Amino acid sequence: MILITGDIHGSIDIDKLDPEVNPELGELTKDDYVIIVGDFGLVWDNGENDLYWRNWLENMPYSVLFLDGNHENFDLLNELPEERWNGGRVHRLSDHILHLMRGQLFDIDGHTFFTFGGADSHDKDYRTEGQDWWPQELPNDEELAEARQTLTDCGFKVDYILTHCAPTSVQRELILVKNDDSYSRNRLTEFLEGVKERTRYKHWFCGHYHIDFTSTFDPKLDVMYNYFIELPVSKRAPNPDQQPIAPVSDESTPAETVSAAAAEDSAHETAPEPPADKNEASRTDVARPKTADED
Ligand SMILES: [Fe+2]
Repeated sequence: MILITGDIHGSIDIDKLDPEVNPELGELTKDDYVIIVGDFGLVWDNGENDLYWRNWLENMPYSVLFLDGNHENFDLLNELPEERWNGGRVHRLSDHILHLMRGQLFDIDGHTFFTFGGADSHDKDYRTEGQDWWPQELPNDEELAEARQTLTDCGFKVDYILTHCAPTSVQRELILVKNDDSYSRNRLTEFLEGVKERTRYKHWFCGHYHIDFTSTFDPKLDVMYNYFIELPVSKRAPNPDQQPIAPVSDESTPAETVSAAAAEDSAHETAPEPPADKNEASRTDVARPKTADED
């Protein structure tokens, strides 16, 4: 099973990943994936908090895949060991936590995914470069070129597109919906607009805007925050060359009790399950709504 969800901002919005908050997650296995579409935020300073919550995630029942957002320490993220996994380049944090790099095409459980993280921080004027803001949040020419080549190689046809920010046209819609004009059109939203125009895809998922919203401009595009969307069972045969996420036996990973900190938050009520999405993917769960201080 593959589930998609939105930003976690380190430990700020991580409780939605706790099976005590969303019990469905407790039924997953390490062969199932939870994909976070950016603002992972747990490669921030490699300090005690980062390591605690990465270990907590590693010990969840499922595997974690994530895109980079705009709130990542790109100096540290790009130092992580890189490897190829299921057709694309990844940074490996641990046995069951991988960063899906930009401009890649992955084949996961018989679905193809084009990935491109990053976004513009609209509050960067109040941040300090190298401390809490990194210019690598927006792509360089090389990353854009690799993405174009990846899409060319697959004939501009993929199953799913995963990004952190939205194409310009959908972002414009979000500016109206949120009544917030601080989101800027930039080289990434414009690049994604081109991807949108040219690529055939079943569904597109992005994060960044801290809202759960299906675009009316493009009903195949879901903006993710606290919802989880489950992808359908593949109609295709699984890729026989698919690699397991872990390079080593699970025996090397010590079991750990779910953190007391997460358990404290379990008192939050889980909202009733919303009606199934009319699109191919379906919303399956919702964690408590939260406000966050950044996007
Ligand atoms: Fe965010």
